[in-house]
Amino acid sequence: MKHLIIYAHPSKKSFSFQLKDALKAESEKRGWSATVRDLYEMKFDPVLWPSDLEKLKKGETEEDILSEQALVKEADIISVVYPLWWAGFPAILKGYIDKIFAYGFAYKAGKNGIEGLLTNKKVYLYTSMGNTVEEYEEKGLIEAFRKIQGGEIFEFCGMEVKHQEFFPQIPSASTEEIEKHLKVALSVFEPAKQIITN
Ligand SMILES: Cc1cc2nc3c(=O)[nH]c(=O)nc-3n(C[C@H](O)[C@H](O)[C@H](O)COP(=O)(O)O)c2cc1C
Repeated sequence: MKHLIIYAHPSKKSFSFQLKDALKAESEKRGWSATVRDLYEMKFDPVLWPSDLEKLKKGETEEDILSEQALVKEADIISVVYPLWWAGFPAILKGYIDKIFAYGFAYKAGKNGIEGLLTNKKVYLYTSMGNTVEEYEEKGLIEAFRKIQGGEIFEFCGMEVKHQEFFPQIPSASTEEIEKHLKVALSVFEPAKQIITN
């Protein structure tokens, strides 16, 4: 299994940073290969500049985009780890999606409308936040986040969103709460198969 972890947080002191490391360690424990794309460390340029849009429209793809697309293409599992900022993705992650999940690679127009091209991939979304889940539920926003961040992006491109976990009130969480969140995060994967040796 190839596990691609797309990680978008600027701080090594964040919960997201710990979560990304826990996902990597869990993958290795299960014998999966894990690749982390740390968008801040990569200094990923999220802006789709006029010249980028021109190239996109002509179907021309730069080498740095092609290499990211290759990682997405070969992944069986994709985990996306990010804080909720202004009820959405951090700009660097939004820009990654704009540039990497491009027309012709991630989706295309078919006879019956849009066709997702990235099939056979399981996606897990890990969203840390300052607010409570209840507050967002009351506003109907948890459902909206699932539809927009999962459905309209990853499912649109043919992937299966297996789970989106929301981690509430992270800035004031205790060490015990953080430990609990990390356990919950890893529990969303199917149980690891027992390795039987003679
Ligand atoms: C620019 C910015 C915007 C934010 N917007 C939201 C928001 O819309 N909703 C929310 O619940 N928390 C919001 N927060 C709080 C972060 O989501 C929270 O600090 C973060 O998820 C904590 O987890 P971390 O340790 O992984 O950063 C925002 C924080 C920043 C810096």
